[in-house]
Amino acid sequence: MKYATIIGTGSYLPENILTNDDMAKLVDTSDEWIASRTGIRQRRISTGENTSDLAYEAAKRALQEADMDAGDLDLIICATISPDSFMPSVACMVQDLLGAKKAAAFDLTAACTGFIYGMTVATSFIESGMYSNILVIGAETISKTLDWTDRSTCVLFGDGAGAVILSASERNGIRSVHLVSDGNKQDYLCLPAVPLSNPFVKREEGSFHPTITMKGQEVFKFAVRSITDLIKTALNKADLKEEDIKYIVAHQANLRILEHAAKSSGIPLEKFYVNLDLYGNTSGATIGIALDEMVQKGILQRGDKLILIGFGGGMTSGSILVEY
Ligand code: ACO
Repeated sequence: MKYATIIGTGSYLPENILTNDDMAKLVDTSDEWIASRTGIRQRRISTGENTSDLAYEAAKRALQEADMDAGDLDLIICATISPDSFMPSVACMVQDLLGAKKAAAFDLTAACTGFIYGMTVATSFIESGMYSNILVIGAETISKTLDWTDRSTCVLFGDGAGAVILSASERNGIRSVHLVSDGNKQDYLCLPAVPLSNPFVKREEGSFHPTITMKGQEVFKFAVRSITDLIKTALNKADLKEEDIKYIVAHQANLRILEHAAKSSGIPLEKFYVNLDLYGNTSGATIGIALDEMVQKGILQRGDKLILIGFGGGMTSGSILVEY
């Protein structure tokens, strides 16, 4: 049987930096409030690049790192809740930009858990023997989905993209996967799509600009519970112990969530990778960006074991135990 293993990572962030002080010029907030409640100090906000542009740059870098030609890709999966368009998909746009002629391509929606869902789908395609080389991207220009007058949400997010290439290998690089969904909590995080409108349904007057709404405290509790449970499940499924794990790379939403999760799981906070201070919450992109940053900084070495954890709208959550 073939296993899936990570052979390349890449990431890309738009240049424009918006600090908490910059945010305080847009809404009634302060660096002190944002930093103390979330750990976020700045974020990147696109001044023109769309999701496919960010996705393409991250993908190019992952291919370079993997020393692979785009023509060798069998499949491109892009996890996003902020695509350029519903049709064509971001994955198809990236396929064209890369010249990945033989690759199938589709987008996948699982909000901030999208990267975990994407990597899990890729792993199962590889383990089934159907495909050998799969590019998984998490890419968001989440800034276009924010209500920039709502201080309770607009301070939390940022734009960016992260990517990995998973390839068939004799080495077992994905040691366990686990996905969870709970549609019963669907109102915790919402981003509406095109409203129903046809000759039988009258659409309300006015322009339609969908924006993210959130029940912050419910999300907080869900996130802490999910991380704690998912660490246990990932370890059990892979038959490993906490001591075997070098890093936990959890979705970068909020430092306080990670602090609470560290406490409730009894794992030192130092094992949790944190870069949300620099980029805020880039939704489906956070885990890919973190992984690439860890590789570029030399923090991640071949053979290291880490648990990736996502949680987000749906509600969805999931974990992957990786041997890098
Ligand atoms: N600046 C200043 N004051 C603010 C801001 C802001 N940016 N945002 C809200 N406030 C005010 C509120 O208006 C409220 O004021 P009031 O008491 O006068 O009414 C007060 O702060 C408290 O508001 P709460 O919403 O109760 O604030 P809370 O302590 O819950 O913190 C936060 C909000 C940080 C969002 C918290 O709920 C949280 O961390 N939730 C987790 C959700 C999260 O991180 N989501 C990220 C996206 S989801 C995901 O990635 C899965």
